[in-house]
Order: sequence, then C-alpha cells, then structure tokens
Amino acid sequence: MKREIVIDPSPVLRQPAEKVESFDMELQTIIDDMVETMRANNGIGLAAPQIGESKQVVACELESEKETESKNDSIYDPFPLTVICNPEIIQTSREKCKLVEGCLSFPGRELIVRRPKNITIKGLDRYGKKLEIKAGKLLARVLQHETDHLNSTLMIDYLHEIDIVMFGGGEFALKTIEYIHHDQQYRLKAIFTSKQNTKIRGESVDLNPVKLLAKKLKIKIIEIDNLSQPEIIDQVKKLKPDLGVVVDFGLLIPQQIIDIPVDGILNIHPSLLPKYRGATPIQSTILGGDRYAGVTIIKINAGLDAGDILSQLKVRLKGKETFQVLSEYLSESGASLFLDTVPYYLTGEIRPKKQRQSKVSYTTMLSKADGEVFERDDPALVEKKIRAYYPWPGVYIIKNDLRIMILAAHFDKEKNLVVDRVKPAGKKEMQYSDFISGYKTKLTFGKNIDKLESV
Ligand code: CO
Repeated sequence: MKREIVIDPSPVLRQPAEKVESFDMELQTIIDDMVETMRANNGIGLAAPQIGESKQVVACELESEKETESKNDSIYDPFPLTVICNPEIIQTSREKCKLVEGCLSFPGRELIVRRPKNITIKGLDRYGKKLEIKAGKLLARVLQHETDHLNSTLMIDYLHEIDIVMFGGGEFALKTIEYIHHDQQYRLKAIFTSKQNTKIRGESVDLNPVKLLAKKLKIKIIEIDNLSQPEIIDQVKKLKPDLGVVVDFGLLIPQQIIDIPVDGILNIHPSLLPKYRGATPIQSTILGGDRYAGVTIIKINAGLDAGDILSQLKVRLKGKETFQVLSEYLSESGASLFLDTVPYYLTGEIRPKKQRQSKVSYTTMLSKADGEVFERDDPALVEKKIRAYYPWPGVYIIKNDLRIMILAAHFDKEKNLVVDRVKPAGKKEMQYSDFISGYKTKLTFGKNIDKLESV
C-alpha cells in the first residue's frame, strides 16, 4: 500500500529508529509499503521513518531509464532494488565528493552535500539474512543518505552555505537577487552596482532598482564606477566569494575579478547564446521576428558573453510579446534556471559546453535615434519596433515637424497596421482616434513599398 511521506519538520524524522528484531509479516508489509511509496514518488531511496515507521530499514532502487543525459552519466549508474535492515556503514573511503541531493521529506529542495565517495555497508536483508555491499557512485550516496535517516540525521544538517557576490544593475537582475536571497544554500555577500544617479529638476534621484531592492532585503551594496580600481578588486577579495553572478550589469568584468571567486563567475544572459551576444538581446529577439527566445547560463571569461554554456532554456514566442513582457518572463525563468544549474555546476555534474563560433551574432547598444520610423517603412518592421522599443528608446515618427511617439499598434484581419495609442510631443498619451480628429492626419506605413519592390 502506498503511504503518505512524512515531510520535514516532523518528530519521527528526528528520532533514532528502532532495530529490527523480528522478520515477521508486519515487517514484510512495511517493506512492501516502502517500496511502493518510493516508486510512486519517483524516489531512488527511502527510509522507514519517512513513512512514519521507526524501524531501521532502508530501501533504494534506480532503474536505468531514470538516467539523465545532461548530467555526468557515470555517476548515475542504475542499481537494483536493495532493502537493508539494521544497516551499518563499516567503511568509508577517505576520498569525498560533492553531489546534489534531494529527499522526499524535503519536496523541491536540492542541496549540495559532501560525503565519502565509496562505502562498505553491512546489515540484514528483508528475511534476516546477512549481507554486505561495497558501493560507489550514486548507490554509495543513497545508502549514506538513507542510513542517516535512521540516525535522525537529515541532509539539511550538512548545509554548507555558498558565498555569492553579484554584479548587477537593472530590472532584469531583481528576480535573481530575490531567488538567491531566499535560498538557504546561498549567502549573497554583496551586490556591486554602477552609480547611476540622475538629476531630475536639479535634484539627484536614485533610479537604480537593484539598490532599492538590496536595501529592502538588507543586502550590502557596493557602488562603483569602474571594476578595475585596485580598491574594488580588494573589496571583492575580502568577501572571499565561492561564486560570482553577473546579471544586467552593463560593464565588462575584468579578468582580475573573474579570477577571484573559487568557482568563477556565471552570467544569466537573456538569449539563446551564441545568438545575440551583447547589450540588447531581448530587443533583438523581437526585432528579428524569432520563433524562440531563451535564457542561457554561461561561465564568463574576458570576452563579451563568450563563456562556456552551462544550461539553456528555450521558450516559444507568439509574435505579440513586447520587450516588457518578454523581459519579465525571462528574468523569472533565468533566476530559476540559475538556481537549478548552480548545484550541478558546483559538483561538477554539468560539463560546460563551448559556444559554436559559426553561430555567433552580436547586438548593439540602442540610441534614441533607433526609434525613428518613416512612412515608407515596412509595416511589419514598424510593428516589431514598437514592441521591442517600448518603453525605451520608444518609436516615433516626425510628421509636419511634429514628433509623435507610437506606443502601441496591431495588425487587423486584413493585415493592415493599425496604430492604437500615440503621444504627440508636449501632449499626453492619447487614443489614435482622438489623434486623428485633433490633428487631422493619419499615420500609415509601407507607402511606396510595392513600387520599390517592383523596380
Ligand atoms: Co531523504
């Protein structure tokens, strides 16, 4: 019978389990229930306390189809169903290794745990016959984890926090900050951000969203102009980071800084690298009319977005996404991909892949002038520009010496581009219909296109 899994916190998980004395029908039923419950939950190991039975019994099994391609397959060798009563680890290798562990009593949690690589374990099988197993790879790991359960030790007791420094400045970085901050595995030691105070009507206003969030979460902020200054390099060194992360930063990270964190610096880049390296990947995805957008985690080097790829997430586009919508979506999925990737990166279970040189493309910085459109422009391009450039730099047309921002537009059933909202210079945002009646002029695109094409 499948049973409920006991979820942490629960007293039974923190009680030493009782030794099995008799191998009767009651025990057989408990073992059958354990196996059924483990399989039903796609687990690879289970200890009796996890189904509420204070007995020294562990079960584990890894079928071959549960192997994962992307991870280091040599660790994920399958093992048959193994049940051990009164298990005792009698030997452990001096060599230890870090692996990512999960536990059915901690749904959704994954932690990096360092344990001996190989073990010898002895105990009794389900009928009371003596057994001894020499285990390596994942089996050694599972048997140690499950035996721990019987001694009321949980994986969380091995928590070793990873110290992270971050380099970020824009909206896109906010989700990553929140995600790292709320994950017990990590300590966000400091965020380096560039100074970007803006004067509005003579007063200095702080428009850095990262700074505001860091203040709220009480994370140390270090404002910089330039990462190559010796005192900044010293500050990074003093934090003794295990890992760095760059998100929406805007400055290249010099090699002296890349070399400081023990495990290097990762970057969350909102494109399917090697496509769209550089500053404006999201805008370029929309302007390119791409069917897919994505986010990529790379290990940075001194080049521009040229580091090896650790993981990538691809999303299908509908062709209606604006910069804001796509950016929010990718910032959330990038933050979650980052947390899914880091543990496997740190344990060496992910092998970084080189970017394919033949597929490399670059994006450029945008300026206000990029937002100008003309009546002769292809309506399809104008529509993409409106989605890609809102809110910045924005799309505008100059008509009768009047500069008119075009904020939204759509294609009607006849595939004509219909403007929805505009903002003439010096006026408030308005509906296009009000604009037509007020200014006695229309905004149309694609004039002369037919003629040009037929020449
Ligand atoms: Co467990």
